[in-house]
Amino acid sequence: MMGGNGMALSRARSASSSTRGPPSSCSPPSPRPSASSDRCAGRLRGDPRDGCGYTPIRVVSSGATGELFEGMAQGNQALAPGAMLLRGFARAELSGLVAALREVTEAAPFRHMTTRGGYGMSVAMTSCGAVGWVTDGTGYRYDPNDPATGRAWPPMPEAFRLLARRAAAACGYPGFEPDSCLLNEYTPGSRLSLHRDADERDFTQPIVSVSLGLPAVFLFGGLERGDRTTRIRLESGDVVVFGGPARLVYHGVAPLADGFDPLLGRRRLNFTFRRAR
Ligand code: SIN
Ligand code: FE2
Repeated sequence: MMGGNGMALSRARSASSSTRGPPSSCSPPSPRPSASSDRCAGRLRGDPRDGCGYTPIRVVSSGATGELFEGMAQGNQALAPGAMLLRGFARAELSGLVAALREVTEAAPFRHMTTRGGYGMSVAMTSCGAVGWVTDGTGYRYDPNDPATGRAWPPMPEAFRLLARRAAAACGYPGFEPDSCLLNEYTPGSRLSLHRDADERDFTQPIVSVSLGLPAVFLFGGLERGDRTTRIRLESGDVVVFGGPARLVYHGVAPLADGFDPLLGRRRLNFTFRRAR
């Protein structure tokens, strides 16, 4: 199910290469299971009859799925029950997003944070919104202040908020109101280990993830760290939404390949919207 709209979705498992989860360098603490994740725990590959199963990947397009996805770009993919890739959903607004980002990073520049285990992350991060996701030697948390400046995080630009709301609604999660946006900056070689986004209070709210700049390989796993991961190429303007039974899936990003993007040069950015509190 995708949100509450009753739309049956399918699962990408036929994919090419897969990986086993390496030890995470940024794995949040064990999540409080939500009703939906509980119900489907460990059963993302389950029997389709139990409502948590799925069938091999299919391409979702307006022609194939009727009204609900009418107007969506060709190439949208249902990744799992509750998870959807919206191809090019943000493509038309990339330059506006980058302009708004500049205001955020002037107040709260990208920085490499340290994991609880003391490892420096290869991805540089910052945040905007009421709270920002922070990791340091003491662990992971949402903090109303930027530890680098002691000041509140910059407000979330309206263009960010509206994009996140539209993407969530398009996938059956109406009324999404993000209070935090984690901004990730990847340079060639940067990677993000398999982890779950599990520091938020309300797992009924989805995660909306927007990609800009260089293409990346997104690793989309299951509810268990050791589950097989599907490799999904994400390009500038693609948006991934995961919620419902897929809210707590393990995911990560493979080492970024070098290249040149007309807007961002040798960089990839990812904006991850959450309802943290
Ligand atoms: C994340 O999981 O925080 C980021 C995912 C991505 O960069 O696509
Ligand atoms: Fe994440």
